[in-house]
Amino acid sequence: MLVKDLKHIFHETLDVIYGEQEVSSFFFLCTASFFNISRLDLALDRNLVITKAEQQPIFDALEALKNEKPIQYILGETAFYGLPFKVNENTLIPRPETEELVALVLHNIKKQKQNSKACSILDIGTGSGCIAISLAKNIKEAQVYAIDVSVKALEKAKENAVLNAVDITFIEANILNKNSWDLELLDLKLDVIVSNPPYVRNLEKTEIQNNVLNNEPHLALFVEDDNALVFYRAISEFAIKHLKPNGQLFFEINEYLGKETKVLVERFGFKDVELIQDMYGKDRMLKADKI
Ligand SMILES: C[S@@+](CC[C@H](N)C(=O)[O-])C[C@H]1O[C@@H](n2cnc3c(N)ncnc32)[C@H](O)[C@@H]1O
Repeated sequence: MLVKDLKHIFHETLDVIYGEQEVSSFFFLCTASFFNISRLDLALDRNLVITKAEQQPIFDALEALKNEKPIQYILGETAFYGLPFKVNENTLIPRPETEELVALVLHNIKKQKQNSKACSILDIGTGSGCIAISLAKNIKEAQVYAIDVSVKALEKAKENAVLNAVDITFIEANILNKNSWDLELLDLKLDVIVSNPPYVRNLEKTEIQNNVLNNEPHLALFVEDDNALVFYRAISEFAIKHLKPNGQLFFEINEYLGKETKVLVERFGFKDVELIQDMYGKDRMLKADKI
């Protein structure tokens, strides 16, 4: 079958759901992943062919896309902060706003540690490991720890650490339940704690697209409406005990709960608590210093 005919089938089937441009991008992500054929390859040779024996995976992908499965789960991979990451239904798909959080953390570590870059970092709720691994990759001297309650997410995160050739200590723990913390976690003294915890309230589900609702792990996303800051409370309590003096806490936050999150973090005794906007001008990050 001609690759250009296959592309036509993709557009015929999917444009009505995603629009032409996005379908074109999905198509070439698939051809690159399954057949090592790029957009440029097809532009240079309009008569490129894939054999019948090779076709099944791309038709399976087409079917999955029709059912609004995210392309990252179909291909089992994505990119974050310029690095490759394996993902599956147990890991949240890393988001661009979280890349902004990583950039903020890196900027602050580099500013604070101009002479010695050695520092210890903990990522709470690591999922695919995207935050911990990007930090480890960019600060070679850092000692990086990452926790998650999901054993299956931790399996992927470990795979991603190997893929990106970084050394991270992964710990299974429920940050909401002190009884699940092992000695290694209890003994940590850290320069930086960073977290993108679950923060979407059930009442905000109407704003969430179906492909997210139906495919991404709810454990990674949702909190109860009447206890929306439960993770920020538990992590702040942990952080005030486990950060070294002048240590720093960084959060990705719910854009609607910036002020409440700031007040909560201040109540735990952090100083210089700052809300930070993303590239769209929304309050999406918080930075706080331990005295
Ligand atoms: C919003 S996701 C963030 C994943 C990843 N850090 C990222 O930025 O893409 C939240 C993560 O917190 C984990 N999580 C949920 N409840 C937890 C708990 N009680 N203790 C530790 N981790 C938890 C989920 O498994 C999920 O991986």
